[in-house]
Amino acid sequence: MLSLSRTLVQGLLALLPFQHLHQPSTMADLDPTTQTNYKQVSTENVAFEWLVDFDTKIISGSATHTLKIKEDEPKEVIFDTLDLEIQEATVAGNNATFELKPKHEVMGSALHISLPSGLKEGSTTTVTITYKTSKHSTALQWLAKEQTQGKRFPFLFSQCQPIYARSLAPLQDTPSNKITYDAKVTSVLPALLSAIRVSPPADGPAHDGKEIGKDLVTYTYRQPVPIPSYLLAIAVGDLRYRPFPQFEDKQWKTGVWAEPEGIEQAYWEFSEDTARFLAEEEKVVSEYRFGVYDLLVLPPSFPYGGMENACLTFLTPTLVTGDRALVDVVVHELTHSWFGNGITHAHASHFWLNEGWTTYMERLLQEYLHSPAVRGFQYIIGEKALKDSLRGYEKTPKYQRLIIDFEYGEDPDVAYSSIPYEKGANLILHLERTVGGLDVFVPYIRDYVKTFSGKSITTWEWKDHLYSWFEKNGGAEKIKALDSIDWNAWFYGEGIDLPVKMEYDSTLAKEAYGLAGRWDAARSVEDVGRLHFSESDVEKMDTNQIIAFLERLSTYSALPSNLTTHLGTVYKLSSTPNAEIRFRFYEIALADPSSPAAQTFADEAAKWVVGNDDTGIIKGRMKFCRPTFRGIAKVNKTLAIDTFKPNKSAFHPIAAKLIEKDLGLAKHDV
Ligand code: BES
Ligand code: ZN
Repeated sequence: MLSLSRTLVQGLLALLPFQHLHQPSTMADLDPTTQTNYKQVSTENVAFEWLVDFDTKIISGSATHTLKIKEDEPKEVIFDTLDLEIQEATVAGNNATFELKPKHEVMGSALHISLPSGLKEGSTTTVTITYKTSKHSTALQWLAKEQTQGKRFPFLFSQCQPIYARSLAPLQDTPSNKITYDAKVTSVLPALLSAIRVSPPADGPAHDGKEIGKDLVTYTYRQPVPIPSYLLAIAVGDLRYRPFPQFEDKQWKTGVWAEPEGIEQAYWEFSEDTARFLAEEEKVVSEYRFGVYDLLVLPPSFPYGGMENACLTFLTPTLVTGDRALVDVVVHELTHSWFGNGITHAHASHFWLNEGWTTYMERLLQEYLHSPAVRGFQYIIGEKALKDSLRGYEKTPKYQRLIIDFEYGEDPDVAYSSIPYEKGANLILHLERTVGGLDVFVPYIRDYVKTFSGKSITTWEWKDHLYSWFEKNGGAEKIKALDSIDWNAWFYGEGIDLPVKMEYDSTLAKEAYGLAGRWDAARSVEDVGRLHFSESDVEKMDTNQIIAFLERLSTYSALPSNLTTHLGTVYKLSSTPNAEIRFRFYEIALADPSSPAAQTFADEAAKWVVGNDDTGIIKGRMKFCRPTFRGIAKVNKTLAIDTFKPNKSAFHPIAAKLIEKDLGLAKHDV
């Protein structure tokens, strides 16, 4: 058995001394989160035919894989599945025997399909699997009409990264293998996929002119650029499109999708920046390869800020603040088109290659389009998130590392944090500075993208290329500079400090830090009426500066109750509709669980997080809901659990799973 021998080999490798200082063998670089035999047989293209049924909350249909045979005479092909009902399998049009293995808690049930004998390396064959998703598919959230903005039609959306695509379709669910895909999706509501729309036209009449919510329409898509399975995505709902203006003479198109009630605001929020940043990224790196770059604004239970699904970035509606303050997230997601969707991490252990590089590049674009001060400020804001994440893993220091040696079948979501983003971006920034700045580094970046775009790589392949590029472009002096980097500390270092003390441009943080200092100093003043804080303190600050102010304040010891309450009212932090600001205020307010203010604000935060307040909107983005639930739990565990339980189904299944974990709720008692 492949999986058994892999576990054995990994076990043996771990016994070898210094294994981390050398490049691990190819065996150890097998994806630890898939049960498939993708090295023997791999999917090149999948054709999906799906029927979306909102009554039963099930997608049914088929997936036809075009398989490439990579070793002579494979006896079977193995796919990942999670909670799928498999009805039938055919190979090259003939009925085939298949077996669905018992469910592994994280990886799901391996689907083994026998292959006929005589298949030679280099040949292809096709396998069609007829199947159904289940009501509990982890990737999918089925929303009732009340949970949408328009409240008239239900909604469905997916989140496949890191390993949930297998609950949508039987796949080789590993980023090591890239696939093209075709899809025919039939539904009573408009259907969007992470691909190019073939028909009906996106800018034609909604739902092809048929009655929305009633008539079935088939939407056809094709993704001609090979992508990893985690970029598969579907969204179905009462959705409308508005194209952004054509940008110069670009071949690509951009636009935004949202429910009709939110399309105007979404258009305003993102129309200024999307194409501009995409064009800037092309200038710095290389051409955009995916033809279409659309945004989709989802309902509030979307568990992330953004998700870089191919051709169609998914966004949380909390970015639509009316002041374009949070478009950074779009810059981040579009940067993935090169770093992640273009060059892909081979598997979860090298996830930092996606997020670290993207974070680094996103901030470099901010320097080019705004100023070096803006770039520095983003690193400063990231520092707090990094420290918090590192502290959160103090009991499991393995997850503090940049390269995480996952065991076979370990859940990568347990390790998800700011660490790959911030440690990764800082490593690249440190590299940029060590080799002599942007003038030498940007040409290297271009070559990196050119060399690996379309491929899936490990940290070792990245590092080999880095050395060989600087060997050719600079020679001994640059190699000496690279050798001065403590690679082992960056890759495998634990603890809460980076291997190098990093300096950032702090121009934009100064005012925010000054204000935080004034609040810190005010803690001994009994009568808040005598304090000279007023709304004008923050009037000229943008969202990021207010965030920096609150984050700095939260590093000091907890404020006394009267000051906390004053802080909440004087700047309207306890009532702001901006979730980025409000959740940080709650973090401060809940910092001292024994204070009376913490009791009051735990109640308020509990109402806010499930939307039982003035906002009326659930805070489904994990960045907000997970720390908020954890903060409430520290003050009043019962309140946290009693708030979560009746609202569990309003959260995306991935968020619900992780909140349960945070609150120490065993699956069976929820
Ligand atoms: N690809 C990630 C989201 C993700 C990562 C989902 C791993 C599942 C597993 C996306 O690009 C991302 O990083 N989103 C951030 C945006 C932020 C860093 C600007 C988020 O949602 O907070
Ligand atoms: Zn990202």
